[in-house]
Amino acid sequence: MGKQQYPYSLVTVLRCSNCNRSYPVSEVINVSPCCNQPLLVEYDLQKTFSKEELAGRENDLWRYFEMLPVKERVNIFSLGEGFTPILSLKKLSNKYGYSSLLMKDESHNPTGSFKARGISVAVSKAKELGIKKIIIPTAGNAGGALAAYCAKADMECIVIMPAHTPDVFKNECEMYGAKLITVKGLINDCAKKANEINEKNEYFNISTLKEPYRLEGKKTMGYEIAEQLNWHLPDVIVYPAGGGTGLIGIWKAFDEMLKLGWIKKPLPKMIAVQPENCAPIKAALKDPDNWEKNFVPAPTIAHGLAVPFPFGMNLIKKVLAESNGEVITVTEKEITDGIYEIARTEGIFVSPEGSAAWKALPYLKQKGTIKDRDNILLLNTASGYKYMEDLHKR
Ligand SMILES: Cc1ncc(COP(=O)(O)O)c(C=O)c1O
Ligand SMILES: [Zn+2]
Repeated sequence: MGKQQYPYSLVTVLRCSNCNRSYPVSEVINVSPCCNQPLLVEYDLQKTFSKEELAGRENDLWRYFEMLPVKERVNIFSLGEGFTPILSLKKLSNKYGYSSLLMKDESHNPTGSFKARGISVAVSKAKELGIKKIIIPTAGNAGGALAAYCAKADMECIVIMPAHTPDVFKNECEMYGAKLITVKGLINDCAKKANEINEKNEYFNISTLKEPYRLEGKKTMGYEIAEQLNWHLPDVIVYPAGGGTGLIGIWKAFDEMLKLGWIKKPLPKMIAVQPENCAPIKAALKDPDNWEKNFVPAPTIAHGLAVPFPFGMNLIKKVLAESNGEVITVTEKEITDGIYEIARTEGIFVSPEGSAAWKALPYLKQKGTIKDRDNILLLNTASGYKYMEDLHKR
């Protein structure tokens, strides 16, 4: 922690993302009771909070304390998450003719993925609200992160993960002392199992966007992108989307920073990348009314993107529409090839999800979404190391 005295959190209320009804932040709450939709955390943006105040603060996401929901600093459970580097992929951009290609490398986070951000904030806020037990259905990375932060915060946790997830993801949960349950199927099947186990509601369920605070942790990627690029945003941000938290969070951060006067329009185009094996966003944009009935998801090496029915679909669609963005799909072969390509040119072992973002670029260029002079920023959301078992199988 820095030496400076910090002002307080500017958090005000929770707001239903569908009808704008507000709820107090002091309440233990999952989704909006009015509409059964995600709740968004709101802040008092009339108060002056200048970006100059960030100078000299700690190099983790808690530097944005005013714009985070935790009220007392004693409730912060941090393992040093956030403030990950933005790397320049010069060799790849020269090879493929991109004018500026950057990668925010989230593999530097505790437990090797950007999930540490959301989980650090959610566990801290849960502790502040007096919660002692947490349950999570996960594709893998969020489970490991939850297990680690619950160890730190002396909380009990249950992690429910698809049985086909590489062993490392399972082992790390047990290593950190979590109770692990595996389920045949994808994350939606794990979510069903979580509800069965938690019939009596003894555990607080922190499933993606079914509690308000993971989004707040994830949004700090947006704050960091702005701050680390000296408040000049890229033209295009390419994000591997599963539940969509990062995409929605980054856009929320941009909205808050516009209101704080920290950044100016135009904002980047937000691109969601999904594997062909599981691309519900593409399906929902194509056939908004019937897609769920006809949707048949399959597993993918990009485990984090195997989210067949994202709870935040309305918010995801809103971000794509407001940012003039779109969804791109990539094949399993492209994803695997991309991992090797980035490793061998840039020396970064990206996750399959990060590789998916990279492999979306030729499509975006071909469609004219990326222009010759555009500054592009890719998110590598996790380390590739944990996926080694799957890579060896191919
Ligand atoms: C490595 C990785 N990338 C991306 C995602 C998708 O996350 P989001 O909910 O932000 O779309 C996940 C989720 O599990 C993940 O583990
Ligand atoms: Zn509502």
